Formats: sequence, C-alpha cells, structure tokens
Amino acid sequence: MAGEPGLFISFEGIDGSGKSTQARMLAEALRGHGHSVVLTREPGGSAGAEDIRRLVLEGDPDRWSPETEILLFTAARRDHLEKTILPALARGEVVITDRFADSTRMYQGIRRSENGADLRAMVDDLHARMIGVEPDLTILIDIDAEVGHSRAVARAGAEQRFEDMGTALQARMRAGFLELAKEQPRFAVINGAREPATVAVDVLATALDKLA
Ligand code: ADP
Ligand code: TYD
Repeated sequence: MAGEPGLFISFEGIDGSGKSTQARMLAEALRGHGHSVVLTREPGGSAGAEDIRRLVLEGDPDRWSPETEILLFTAARRDHLEKTILPALARGEVVITDRFADSTRMYQGIRRSENGADLRAMVDDLHARMIGVEPDLTILIDIDAEVGHSRAVARAGAEQRFEDMGTALQARMRAGFLELAKEQPRFAVINGAREPATVAVDVLATALDKLA
C-alpha cells in the first residue's frame, strides 16, 4: 500500500510440498485485503533469471558441477533481486516468492564437492557478498518426502533435473529446512499434508499477522 514499507515473503519446502499452490492462493487473498502483491518465483522472476532457469533445470543432471550450480542460482537471484524484488518493495508492495536463498542452502549446500569443499559455507559466503537480503517472513510448507515426491512426479515436465533426485535426498532436505526454521525466527512452519484450502487459512493468518 502506498507510503507503507513493503513486505518480503518467501515460500520454501521440498518439491511437491505445495509451495506454488499456496503462494498463488496467498497472493489472491492479500489482494482481496487491498494489498498490492507481486507474485514471483526462483529460479526466475526476471527476464535474465528466467534464462538462467532454463540452463539449470533442463538437461543432464551432471551438466554442472556443484560449484557452478551455486554460481548460476546466485546469479539468477541477484538479477531477480535487482529487477523485481527490490523495486517492488520500494513501491511498498508485498513480494511473495516461490523459493529464495534457503533453497540454495538446502539443495546445493547439502551436497559435497568432489574435492571435499564445504558447499554450505560457500553458499552462505556468496549469499552474504552478492545478495545480503533475507525475507521478512519465510513460510515453510512441511510435508513427508514420499508424499511430496509422488505429487512432483505426477506433475513432471521438462524440468526434471532436481525431481529425479529421489526421496532419500528429499527427506534429508526436509530435515534441513526444519533445522533452519528452528534457528531463524523469520520462519513459520505450516503442515502441508492437508487440503489446500485448509493450509491456505494458516498461511493467510501468518501473513496478516506479519502485516499488522
Ligand atoms: P511445489 O511448488 O511445492 O512443488 P505445487 O504447488 O506445484 O508444489 O504442488 C504439487 C502438486 O501437488 C500439484 O499437482 C498440486 O496441484 C498438488 N497439490 C498442491 N497442494 C496440495 C495439497 N495440499 N494436497 C494435495 N495436493 C496438492
Ligand atoms: P521449483 O520450480 O520451485 O520446483 P518445485 O515446484 O518442484 O518445487 O524449483 C525447481 C527446482 O530447482 C527444485 O527442484 C529446487 C531447485 N532449486 C535449487 O536447487 N536451488 C535453488 O536455489 C532454487 C531456487 C531451486
């Protein structure tokens, strides 16, 4: 709303947890409450970042080394931040992004490079230098890895590189997200294993609470 500071909200969770569905529903609900909302996503959310999205999500799973992948996701995020997120926040709008830096912390940070480098430290270091921004509120849609996997597979298209990683890794990722949520007060953890409309009630209440 004009004259008021914007609010930056991210959705996080494993593949198939229902983030995109809930991000869309929250955007509609907040517009219904009179807010100006920019709904966006990562990787992507700006023209340049959408180009990078195609590079990282399509093709052979071994196409990029873990280090190159971190650079690509961070480059996409930097463009998204410059072109889409920061301008919208400066206009006082609510920005809702389907994934942000916590996804890189989990998906790239959880892997080990071939020379044994600590990739999570690399992700955090690059984030501090190149992004330096965290959401005001991060909504973690929490769901069992098997359930998320079966939903994601049912919906699969060309963007298969990450969905192919299997439920064992998704389960580690779920635990990693819950760990992050314990450490950082910006997180709200919401049970995603319910009807979309029921999940959406909790999501909206959390966002309105933050906006109040
Ligand atoms: P994500 O963005 O986290 O990968 P999506 O919102 O795209 O998840 O949902 C993945 C699939 O599961 C879609 O086909 C969607 O329609 C379905 N879905 C989303 N939320 C729910 C829910 N609460 N219960 C059952 N199915 C759901
Ligand atoms: P997304 O389109 O959100 O997929 P989904 O709807 O299945 O959750 O994201 C595509 C994939 O990109 C997803 O498997 C997670 C991965 N990803 C990373 O590995 N690192 C990142 O920094 C981001 C933003 C996404």
